[in-house]
This record gives sequence, structure tokens and C-alpha cells, in this order.
Amino acid sequence: MKRILSGITPSSTSGLHLGNYLGAVKRFVEFQREHECFFFVANLHALNTVHDPKVAQENSRNIFLEYLAFGIDPTKTTFYIESDIPEITYLQTILNNCVTVAEMQRMHGYKDKMAKEADQGTINVGLFNYPILMAADIMLFDADIVPVGEDQSQHVEVCREIGRTFNNRYGSILKIPELSIQRETARVIGTDGVRKMSKSLGNDLPVFADEKHIYKQIMGITTDPARIKPTDAGDPAKNIGFSYLRLLDHPEAEVSTLEARYRSGTVGDVEIKKLIYEVFMTYMKPFRTRKVELESDPSTIDRLREQGAQRARVIATASLARIREAVGV
Ligand code: ADP
Ligand code: TRP
Repeated sequence: MKRILSGITPSSTSGLHLGNYLGAVKRFVEFQREHECFFFVANLHALNTVHDPKVAQENSRNIFLEYLAFGIDPTKTTFYIESDIPEITYLQTILNNCVTVAEMQRMHGYKDKMAKEADQGTINVGLFNYPILMAADIMLFDADIVPVGEDQSQHVEVCREIGRTFNNRYGSILKIPELSIQRETARVIGTDGVRKMSKSLGNDLPVFADEKHIYKQIMGITTDPARIKPTDAGDPAKNIGFSYLRLLDHPEAEVSTLEARYRSGTVGDVEIKKLIYEVFMTYMKPFRTRKVELESDPSTIDRLREQGAQRARVIATASLARIREAVGV
């Protein structure tokens, strides 16, 4: 049995999208069956962009609910909110000294922001240090495996570097985690058909949004631009909608037939999009229903949050004591 750990940053009010589910949460739910899991809402990471306290609180609670709705089981998994574990930030302060500024400057998140010149003066140290906080999240709990989407792989790499530097200095104290990426869903493409699905790009299919919004997002899917009328021949590779049907487990035979009709100009884009909408809503229905149930029971949510924090802190306090002793503080 391995120890699995991962988190999601609650930086948006619109909640989790198809990419988050397939690239992250779905795998978390599967891992729970056979492994010891630690999953959490990375609300300290969100402070980098979320500056309204009410929004910070609401987003965190919302993502907590959505994890549960997707099937995270707090009886099996240690499930918590990052800020409830102060030992994490203590460890971050220690780890700050195990990585160089030059290494941190190579991080994509920071580099991408720097590349957008207008943003330079507004980049805060929270963004710069983000991977160190993430390393503390991971190594405080001695995680064996960190399942994430492709965009996070560099952060796990630097975590391993930080761990090695620490261990070279202080002895074999920290466990060096392995990264785990699932290739097929590591990068779910957004409705623009080009970029990674991301809430910040507005090209996402949010699972728990209201039906009208989901419908609007699906109707906005980019299709083959060379196709003007439904009778024009189209290239299915230029219509990301087909890949959504496959990701949502729509029968392969039906997707292939539809692609053939697309090629021969015998199906309209709207018909395909309506099908995607139906398939999406059917697939997500159990999760959407479960979230509504959970929302009506706030005391259970508070209790689960508290229990999760208590469980996590048993490990966090022991682990930090060991690290402090090694470091000499
Ligand atoms: P977003 O890019 O929408 O802000 P996050 O960065 O909060 O999403 O990602 C949360 C988790 O979901 C991470 O493990 C991330 O790798 C995964 N993830 C996000 N977007 C995608 C995507 N389009 N495809 C696959 N996994 C994704
Ligand atoms: N940075 C990750 C994201 O945005 C979330 C995260 C924070 C995380 N701490 C982590 C993921 C530790 C895995 C392990 O998706």
C-alpha cells in the first residue's frame, strides 16, 4: 500500500471542470480503493490570486463539497483543508532554505507571468514561492506518489530536488515522492480546441454550474472552421467535441459513426453539440445530485472538515517534530 497525496487550488468560484475531474479527482477516487490517501483543498495556494476573504472562504468550502460529491470518502481518505494544518507553513519556512532563487526562477508559473510584461510589477512572492509551499504539502506527509495533471509535473520535480537537498544536508529525513501522470487525461483540451481546459481561460466545462451555463459552454465549442453549412465535409480532428464524447465514455461505435457523418457532411454541428450536452449531463448527474444533498447539510460538512484536520495533524505534528530536531530548531 502506497501513500498518495494531492490537492486542488480553490481559485475559482465556478468550481471544478471536466479537466479537473478526469485529470485529477477521478483518479483520486480510484486510488482510495487500494491505497492510503491524503487529499486536500489547497486554499493557501489560492491566496496568490484570491484576495477577498469571503470569496476565499466560499471557494474553499465549495471545492471541499465538490470533492465529496465526486466520491472522496473521508472514512477511507484523510481529507482536509490546507490552512487547517499550520505545520505545513512551518515546514515551508524550513524548505525555503533548500532551494535557490535561480531554481525558482525556472518555474513555469512564474516565468509565464514574467513573460507577460504588463504583469511584472504585480507578481507577488506567493506565486514565486508557490512550489515550495507545495513541496511542504507533500513532504510533511511522507507521500510516496503525487498524482497530478501535466501542468503540475515541474512542481513535483522541484519538490524532489528540495527533498534531496534537505536530505544531503540533514540525513535521510524526507521521503522523495514519485510523480504520477495519466497520459490520456493529463491534458484535457478546452472548448477552444487548442489550449488546456482551464477555468482561468474560460474554455472549461464546469461540472456543477447551472445548466444554462454548461449549455452555453458546449455551444461555444470550436468546430472545423472550414465548415459553413452542415452539408459541408468536415474534419473530425478539428472538432474537439468528438474527444469529449470519448472522454465521457460515449460508445465508440456511435462516436465513429458520427465522425463518418461529419466527414461526409451529413450532420450539423448543433446536433453534435446537443448530444455532447446530453451525454455530459447524464455522466455528471450523480455528482450534481450529491452536491445538492451535501449543500443542505452544513453541519456534516463542518464535522468532516474538523475530523480531517485532526487526522492530518496527528501525522503533521509528529513529522514536523522529527524535521525540527534534524534541522536544530
Ligand atoms: P485550472 O487550470 O482550471 O486552474 P487547476 O490548476 O486548479 O485547474 O488544477 C487542479 C488539478 O486538475 C491539477 O491536478 C491539474 O493538473 C488538473 N487539471 C487542471 N486542468 C486540467 C486539464 N485541462 N486536463 C487535465 N488535468 C487538469
Ligand atoms: N498546485 C496544485 C494545483 O494547482 C495544487 C496543489 C497544492 C498540489 N499542493 C499540492 C497538488 C501538493 C499536489 C500536491 O493544481
